[in-house]
Amino acid sequence: MKRVQTIEALQSHIEAAKTKGRKVGFVPTMGALHPGHASLIERARNACEEVVVSIFVNPTQFNNRKDFKTYPSTLKDDLDVARKTGATTVFTPTVDELYGGDLKVGPVDYGRLTSAYEGQKRAGHFDGVVAVVRKLFSAVRPDMAFFGEKDLQQLAVIRQLVRSEFDGLEVVGCPLVRERDGLAMSSRNVRLLGESRQDALKLNQWLNRIKSTACNGRDVSAVLQAIESEAASMKAIELEYIDVVDAKSFEPQHNASSQQGAFAIVAAQVGGVRLIDNCCVACS
Ligand code: PAF
Repeated sequence: MKRVQTIEALQSHIEAAKTKGRKVGFVPTMGALHPGHASLIERARNACEEVVVSIFVNPTQFNNRKDFKTYPSTLKDDLDVARKTGATTVFTPTVDELYGGDLKVGPVDYGRLTSAYEGQKRAGHFDGVVAVVRKLFSAVRPDMAFFGEKDLQQLAVIRQLVRSEFDGLEVVGCPLVRERDGLAMSSRNVRLLGESRQDALKLNQWLNRIKSTACNGRDVSAVLQAIESEAASMKAIELEYIDVVDAKSFEPQHNASSQQGAFAIVAAQVGGVRLIDNCCVACS
């Protein structure tokens, strides 16, 4: 596995691979790799001969300075995970290499995809995500790019970016990976201390409750309200949103059982750690 830090070195390596007819898969990450990331790299390796993993904690997508400062950094372990799961190249640029000293990013307006839920709660977040993913796609020029469905709204935003600017690039959404007890895997989980780790399980329990309501053919509005009331009475959890939406448009979808692509989505602060989770509620 090769590690490169500059766009120039990356591009000459990728050009050489493409000349040999190798298909290029790309897995962008912010490091602190866990089994969810490993599953993306493995999936990329099954589809492509050349697999580039980027590790870059993108400063422009953090609306909260403390979250950026405390974002876990485990580069040595990350390189091991990348190597073991089949990455052929790891790209670890500096902030200057990608942004050239200018951290201002332009606003992105993809309607509800960038303005609702995550877009509303994390002002400017998707501006930063789109800015960095655009830079990374332009540097790597992959044939396929792999993203986790854990960040469901981000995935919809990236699909829109690709439709508008990266013709021919195939975006592959990969299933969310959970801990044994149901907690969605996230690089931030290591910051869940003491009882917060147990409290965090509530998110998945709420999603399952919504799913079973939807699968019984009932409108989910009442259960959403009940969960909001329960959350309001809990000290340990600060609920930011919970809803059922269409995963392509992020329009609410409260009569969900018959709708393909209906997902329950949730975001909450648990013990000072911001968590998101989702599950498909459409029953086949
Ligand atoms: O999902 C992430 O880890 C980040 O948002 C991404 C796509 C690597 C951009 O920084």
